[in-house]
Amino acid sequence: MAPPRRHSRSLPRARSIRTTAVLISRHGPPEALVGREISLADPGDGEVHLRVEAAGVNFADLAMRMGLYGTVPPLPFSPGFEVAGVVARRGTNVTEFHEGDRVVALIRYGGYARDLIIPAKNLFRYPESLTPAQAAAIPVVFLTAHIALFTTAHATEGETALILGAAGGVGTAAVQLAVEAGLRVVGTAGTEAKRAFVCRELGAAACFDSRGDWEPSVLGHVGHRGIDVALDPVGGEATSACLRLLAPFGRLVFYGLSQAMPGQSRSWPRAAWAWLRTPRIHPLSLVERNTGVLGIHLLHLQRKEQLLRPAMESIYARAAAGRLRPIIDRTFPLTRDGAVAAHHHLHGRRATGKVVLTA
Ligand SMILES: NC(=O)c1ccc[n+]([C@@H]2O[C@H](COP(=O)([O-])OP(=O)(O)OC[C@H]3O[C@@H](n4cnc5c(N)ncnc54)[C@H](OP(=O)(O)O)[C@@H]3O)[C@@H](O)[C@H]2O)c1
Repeated sequence: MAPPRRHSRSLPRARSIRTTAVLISRHGPPEALVGREISLADPGDGEVHLRVEAAGVNFADLAMRMGLYGTVPPLPFSPGFEVAGVVARRGTNVTEFHEGDRVVALIRYGGYARDLIIPAKNLFRYPESLTPAQAAAIPVVFLTAHIALFTTAHATEGETALILGAAGGVGTAAVQLAVEAGLRVVGTAGTEAKRAFVCRELGAAACFDSRGDWEPSVLGHVGHRGIDVALDPVGGEATSACLRLLAPFGRLVFYGLSQAMPGQSRSWPRAAWAWLRTPRIHPLSLVERNTGVLGIHLLHLQRKEQLLRPAMESIYARAAAGRLRPIIDRTFPLTRDGAVAAHHHLHGRRATGKVVLTA
């Protein structure tokens, strides 16, 4: 996942192409996003010009906009880890892709744009049967869920998985992957409609209210044997509950601190409170209970081509076969106002599945 080459006004260009992008200009509420017309450089060696048709929106985009995300370029920059589009032009030494190819790309930032210059090694083909919005809804959430469940926790058939935020982007992907692999899934979600979706549509055995005290309900459902794999993107007391619920040889995979972002603008006290409430784990406590705690960060796996490419190819093949479904809650226009509305929508915890910006 290399970053897209920055749109540059200073590079010499054979042709000057103007395009539009949505940028984070300052840290703040969704209205801190701005639309800009920018110049696009020509694709260089090993690069393509991608005409973007759809861009996935992720929770981390909100964190970036609020100034609560670690690995970001200087302001202003465009967020967006994943796009689907059409190869418009090729630079030198690009042989695997051609003009007109429909592809998805994983990038570190920059996806809220109509055009991108991007290394060809970041591109993946996707099946004809998927729309660009469906294709753009897959990479981050399915890769994160796949890596959490199988590369990190080594989840296996017959085990029980607890998936927090089960109706969200990563959550809906994780529930599907776990059910497909023969795990018994218990989730949490914030509304009755979301919980019904997670059980009836995705096949979870049970789903409990994420806004309430779900720990006794989970325990009542799985019994004292406990949970084999817990996926925790929430932090704070949710992490403590997951640890208490782990069975012997249970694995907790931690991959987010959603609790640090209860509002639409950065609040250092709330972020600090979530951080402080997240348990500090002494290795001896793991020894005593025969449990493990693991963490993942997709961005920091960007050089693991040998892990990401086969996983992506397998996920898209299963999506084409109807075994996995990209769940799209809503699409918004790939414009500044569309991105503002999309961010508001995610902050509201209303989405079941992904939010996607479409051109
Ligand atoms: N480490 C990585 O590589 C990686 C990669 C992708 C995502 N993530 C993390 O995974 C999480 C989910 O990402 P996503 O893109 O799937 O987001 P999403 O679609 O917005 O889903 C997040 C879910 O978390 C719950 N939530 C939202 N705000 C919350 C809060 N303040 N406190 C507690 N729960 C909250 C909501 O569920 P309910 O209201 O239904 O409970 C929401 O549906 C985020 O924390 C994100 O940063 C990490």
